[in-house]
Amino acid sequence: MDYLSITGPCRLQGEIRVSGAKNAALPIVAATLLSDEPCSIENVPEVADIRTLLRLFEKLGSRYLLEDHTLTIDNEEITNTVATYDIVKTMRASILVLGPLLARFGRCEVSLPGGCAIGQRPIDLHLKALEQMGASIEIKNGYVVATAPEGLRGARIIFDKITVTGSENIIMAAALAKGKTELINVAKEPEVVQLCEVLAEAGVEIDGIGGDELTIIGTDREALKLKPIKIIPDRIEAGTYLCAAAITYGTVTLNSVRSDHLDAVTAKLHEAGCRIESEGESMTLYPAARLKAFELSTTEYPGFPTDMQAQFMALATQAEGVSIIEERLFENRFMHVSELQRLGASIHLKGHTATLNGPIQLLGADVMATDLRASSALVLAALAASGVTNVHRIYHLDRGYEALHEKLKTLGAKIERLKE
Ligand code: UD1
Repeated sequence: MDYLSITGPCRLQGEIRVSGAKNAALPIVAATLLSDEPCSIENVPEVADIRTLLRLFEKLGSRYLLEDHTLTIDNEEITNTVATYDIVKTMRASILVLGPLLARFGRCEVSLPGGCAIGQRPIDLHLKALEQMGASIEIKNGYVVATAPEGLRGARIIFDKITVTGSENIIMAAALAKGKTELINVAKEPEVVQLCEVLAEAGVEIDGIGGDELTIIGTDREALKLKPIKIIPDRIEAGTYLCAAAITYGTVTLNSVRSDHLDAVTAKLHEAGCRIESEGESMTLYPAARLKAFELSTTEYPGFPTDMQAQFMALATQAEGVSIIEERLFENRFMHVSELQRLGASIHLKGHTATLNGPIQLLGADVMATDLRASSALVLAALAASGVTNVHRIYHLDRGYEALHEKLKTLGAKIERLKE
């Protein structure tokens, strides 16, 4: 197992390129199941979650090549519609094959993902919506067994809660269903929007893209012809590097980025005293004279993303005053708190709210990554801490950050990837 050894404090300086968005690539790769022709996807991030999904596709009978961030994938001869436990347990987002497999083949089995480090994370809303579209769903031996021998039919679906992968699953299912599907209270994340755009480009009639109500006219199981696709930049990776610049009082430019997807994040960085300039596909963060405390609550897009909560908690350790961070989406997404405390952070946790006092001179220590974004918060804190911090269990980081330690090295961080 690898770990990262980081010597701080440092001041990051320079330019890096932001990779394609993992959370956009996952549903779009899943959507290729709606097509029976080869298709090509550019700007695919080469991260562990994408490799896990491709391993699943291999088991389904798909043929593909991922080279230089371009994925060519051919799902003409899908021979199997079972997503097995060994893969789903390593990546919950495997559930994204449920909607497209069922819509195209009328039957599939997907292992139930179960809970995870950040909370219970049920998939009841995915299943309820598919039932409304005529699927019959049973839970057998830990698997969701879904059947719709005559195909899915359009329905009016009101999501009780906003769910990102739930919306994506049902959007894909609706694309091949018979008739009109209306989705109310659908997620509006840029990754959901790109999925809709890809389907619309392929000829599916979709109204309301970018809003919280969608109307989709399905093709009645006629396979789609997907046009070449380029994955949007990863807004969470970009936000993480903006925080890395801010916490080290450095000046960093990000290239290949969509600043309009980062409004809630940049607003908080402004509140903390940083200045951000955006031009075309570039953004530069200029440091605060002194970081100031801030308050934030996580919520659905366009609000502040839960996937940036941990990184802002690291930042708050260096901000002057009392910062308040409220997590509203996941009940247990505070695993990084105790690790940040090992570095000396002053954090008081009560229910869904963390209160931080800053600034604190953090001191290097051994810490353990617990989930993807929590891990990046530990890396940010290590950049500001004095001395050596070893971040263990970085397989969590590898799930979603492409070449993180090389990118940070380019920016001047003293960071090594070592074997335990
Ligand atoms: C996606 C993202 C993840 C991000 C999250 C919230 C991907 C691959 N992952 O996860 O990075 O942190 O959105 O922005 O895109 N819920 C239910 N029932 C359901 C589905 C969800 O109760 O059937 C609840 C969840 O427990 C959670 C909330 O709804 O409290 C939002 O979860 P959801 O948007 O579904 O998260 P994911 O799609 O799993």
